[in-house]
Amino acid sequence: MSIRKFSLALAAAAVLSGPLCASELVLVAGASGRTGSAAMRLLREQGFAVRATTTNRDRAIERHGDQWDWIELDVRDREAVFAAMQDVDYLICAIGTRSLIGGNGPEFVDYRGVVNLVDAAVEAGVRHFAVVTSAAAGPYRERSRMIIFARARHWKTMGENHLKRSGLAYTVVGPSGLREEPANGGEPLRVMARADYDTGAVAIADVAMLAVDALANPDARNRSYAVIRDESAAVGAWREMLKTIRPDSETEEAPDHPLMPDPE
Ligand SMILES: NC(=O)c1ccc[n+]([C@@H]2O[C@H](COP(=O)([O-])OP(=O)(O)OC[C@H]3O[C@@H](n4cnc5c(N)ncnc54)[C@H](OP(=O)(O)O)[C@@H]3O)[C@@H](O)[C@H]2O)c1
Repeated sequence: MSIRKFSLALAAAAVLSGPLCASELVLVAGASGRTGSAAMRLLREQGFAVRATTTNRDRAIERHGDQWDWIELDVRDREAVFAAMQDVDYLICAIGTRSLIGGNGPEFVDYRGVVNLVDAAVEAGVRHFAVVTSAAAGPYRERSRMIIFARARHWKTMGENHLKRSGLAYTVVGPSGLREEPANGGEPLRVMARADYDTGAVAIADVAMLAVDALANPDARNRSYAVIRDESAAVGAWREMLKTIRPDSETEEAPDHPLMPDPE
């Protein structure tokens, strides 16, 4: 199916409630996580084949069921990442470490892990790579006053930079504070350039919806944006707001140098 047909299928899926037939394979990296699992459910509802990654298959099955095509994948293992990318058409990356230091820390997961995914996606000819990072990452990450979070955002930014330079079509979705509720999302959202982001929160289901939408939405292509819940916005108005986000090529690029050294 062409990207245009895929786009139409997604648009139709938003209107029709029934599943659509689609044969494309979407790899969801971090499908066992909160945002990744919401994204894989949406993709399946829309008829897409999903390859779901976890670092622990038994735990993922316990949490989300065995009806998914689970593969165990540690994104730090470059060879395994390349193997997992076979036949993949689209990618949603919703990985994120919960260890702020150590061998599974942000440098190795949010940066080097993303580098592995991006490089493998290039080789596999993936058509769009949507990554969920943070509203406070990117060129404007310096606003964090807590050094440990600033460091995590630094490594996320480095991963983003690698994606932006890869030649892949991509979207960087930058959520503010993630909330579990409402479980089905559907809230009024504000999307904005991350330069304009200050603070906020957003439902996980809405972040997953944006990541899925980004795969075929030309207005999201090669753009990075922040998203918050905003009562003053109309539900669905985010689509028009997205049109006002400039492509990354026209905006400030985040520097590559580390914001601060890692702890000893
Ligand atoms: N929490 C917030 O308020 C907040 C705000 C803004 C942005 N974010 C970012 O949004 C993204 C999604 O957050 P979330 O809360 O949905 O994530 P989450 O529930 O913590 O899930 C994280 C995912 O990353 C996977 N992962 C961790 N280390 C890995 C490794 N070495 N190899 C492969 N996979 C690995 C986990 O796999 P297993 O569980 O299978 O190990 C899990 O699927 C993250 O990048 C997060 O940093 C979070």
